[in-house]
Amino acid sequence: DVINPSTPQSEVSQNITPVTQRPRRLRRTETLRRMVRENTLRVEDLIYPLFVMEGEAQRETIPSMPGCDRYTLDLLLQEVREVYELGIGAIALFPLIPSAQKDNAGTESYNPDGLIPRAVQTIKQAVPDILIITDVALDPYSSEGHDGIVQDGKILNDETVAVLVKQALVQAEAGADFVAPSDMMDGRVGAIRQALDAEGWINVGILAYSAKYASAYYGPFRDALDSAPKFGDKKTYQMDAANAREAIKEVELDIAEGADIVMVKPALAYLDIIYQIKQRTNLPVAAYNVSGEYAMIKAAAEQGWIDEKKVILETLTSMKRAGADLILTYFAKEVALMLR
Ligand code: PBG
Repeated sequence: DVINPSTPQSEVSQNITPVTQRPRRLRRTETLRRMVRENTLRVEDLIYPLFVMEGEAQRETIPSMPGCDRYTLDLLLQEVREVYELGIGAIALFPLIPSAQKDNAGTESYNPDGLIPRAVQTIKQAVPDILIITDVALDPYSSEGHDGIVQDGKILNDETVAVLVKQALVQAEAGADFVAPSDMMDGRVGAIRQALDAEGWINVGILAYSAKYASAYYGPFRDALDSAPKFGDKKTYQMDAANAREAIKEVELDIAEGADIVMVKPALAYLDIIYQIKQRTNLPVAAYNVSGEYAMIKAAAEQGWIDEKKVILETLTSMKRAGADLILTYFAKEVALMLR
């Protein structure tokens, strides 16, 4: 018997093999869906990146990152108190450095009285329980807008690592809980770990930007810090977007050198990398939901083209599902409010 569009409905039903597997049974009600849910986004998973600048009583909007401002330290403190109250346990600090303080060697990066060390000390005093993560890289301090020292158009590796070590030590001294090398120079995790231990900072952790790609998704962040490269791009140190095995190699090296947490960055276009790394390490895996990922959602939501809250939760949940334990995200505060 052949079924065709003119076959009577009752006859069609009789001819179809009875359904024996019914996965929809577990999707019947919200309570049931909640019960069988495999991954959940928790406020404890979130790390909030914050931009700090010199001055007093000022906040500046960043046009490509609506909802994220640059704060002077006094106002930043209020923001930190507020997010800690919301249950966010960690912040990552990024400085806007005046151009007059920038040079090729990123000297300001290890000034013990610099903006970041002062911010760390001030926050630690006011909100001692929030974890502070400081970025280790030269780009906000570099007159060339690169993550390392430039010579003849090239980025020097080992000379840069020597500066990064000083930067990390100054941050540890100021009270950072984790230093986070985001520069992608070879050997920097090991060098920083060794120096921290030698100086007695055995409990300062390293959150390593292990698989950091040369990504076009960092645009808005570079607006925020005025840190775009003055020439060329970052492809001789950040990874090629086409590579996955190389990410595993970078992660393995960082673990061998002493990383406590490994990170994949960006997140959304690299969920496969998060997944693969999660399969290979027992360390916590972090994902950086970067500025361009944030800007895309904000822009579409402003146009009324997507449901912002739902898209944010779906996006961050995809990172958890891929294997991220922690997510650095500019949405952290909004999400904390949503999860309340
Ligand atoms: C700098 C650094 C960058 C980001 C974090 N640390 C930019 C870059 O590598 O050019 C990007 C974060 C974001 O886009 O949200 N080393």
